[in-house]
Amino acid sequence: MNQNKKILALVGGISKGSINQKLFKAMQEIAPHDYQLEQFDLSQIPFFSQDLEVDPPGLVNQLKEKIKEAHAILFITPEYNRSFPGVFKNAIDWASRPYGQSAWVGKRAGVMGASVGNIGTFGAQHHLRQVLAYLDMKVMGQPEFYLNASHAFDDQGKLMDVKIKELMINYWKSFDRFIYE
Ligand SMILES: Cc1cc2nc3c(=O)[nH]c(=O)nc-3n(C[C@H](O)[C@H](O)[C@H](O)COP(=O)(O)O)c2cc1C
Repeated sequence: MNQNKKILALVGGISKGSINQKLFKAMQEIAPHDYQLEQFDLSQIPFFSQDLEVDPPGLVNQLKEKIKEAHAILFITPEYNRSFPGVFKNAIDWASRPYGQSAWVGKRAGVMGASVGNIGTFGAQHHLRQVLAYLDMKVMGQPEFYLNASHAFDDQGKLMDVKIKELMINYWKSFDRFIYE
């Protein structure tokens, strides 16, 4: 199978039972055959400090390389207090530095997310979009994907709802068009 289109998934949920990790795996399972959706684990990246930005930790260099070689980035975000979680802000800040050497510039991206609340990460995604726009990224506008995941997955992480699966397939189709338009 020729999986030559590389999408870098960044997932803001790092707990064992994370519903956003489940969403990532479900997106990975239904990825179009020519796509490779690979996650970079953000949980071990130290806190950003400007003292370290000219000689960053190895993981940060790896992240920047993965961003550069990816055709596009897929952000899968939980909602924390109506915003996106700190692990995302930390990774975004690292990869934007040093000044003038940001890995994000011009990158195409998709944003999606799952929470247990009724507005399913609306607040998180819109804060995130604001930051990505500042970083000069091109973020897909439609379709939006806000998932109230309270009953979406079983304990093994299997997607229970066929309608959600259809929305995810549609998301991939639009993302494919958006990345290469
Ligand atoms: C610090 C914190 C803040 C949260 N704030 C929100 C929120 O603003 N909106 C929401 O829908 N859920 C909120 N939740 C609940 C999350 O939706 C829920 O914990 C979800 O499982 C997080 O995603 P994850 O499982 O991928 O980590 C919050 C949870 C935590 C731990």
